[in-house]
Amino acid sequence: MTHTPQELSAKARTICEMAPIVPVLVVDDVTAADPLAKALISGGLPALEVTLRTPAALDVIRVMSQVPGGMVGAGTLITPEDVRAAKEAGATFGVSPGATDALIAACEDEGLPLLPGAATASEAMALLERGYAMLKFFPAEASGGVPALKSLASPLPQISFCPTGGVNPKNAPEYLACANVVCAGGSWVAPKDMVAAGDWAGIEALARDAAKLG
Ligand code: 3PG
Repeated sequence: MTHTPQELSAKARTICEMAPIVPVLVVDDVTAADPLAKALISGGLPALEVTLRTPAALDVIRVMSQVPGGMVGAGTLITPEDVRAAKEAGATFGVSPGATDALIAACEDEGLPLLPGAATASEAMALLERGYAMLKFFPAEASGGVPALKSLASPLPQISFCPTGGVNPKNAPEYLACANVVCAGGSWVAPKDMVAAGDWAGIEALARDAAKLG
């Protein structure tokens, strides 16, 4: 069944509204999935982006999607096959660094709410024309950061963004203060060394601080 872009984009927006920060997760070991998701959700960050960048990623989505109170999405969606695999694993939304016709069509076929990436006015306008008004601004810092987002807000106030890429606890408040920013994505709430050490209390504390941002 094909879903409308407007419906999928509205759902992506609702997910972005759950918390100020969406953790961007690169998880190597599936045994970390359950405690990591629990720590982030307990800390107040329920929407989780699991990037499809590790062999374990789909299994991580499978495990995390069983954790109560969470909303687990798949990030780094590049191909229609990624979309189908993510949906099958239990992802309830998708995030992509950019957007292609094939990727968008696959999300509409699968009914997977998509947060597609854009970094320029033309990319954002093309997605808006296609029905997507909630976008990932990527790579945020490298694409001009807060001043770029503010500049886009004047001519394109109908488009909202989740800036990701170079967002950190220091600059996040500035991003979140932008009129066209709903939430931001960031990997700092799940540092590789803390995940490897199983420091779930430490990660929960990072999540709690992030949840207070904005
Ligand atoms: C990524 O692609 O890994 C995301 O953009 C996260 O970027 P960050 O590590 O700068 O938060």
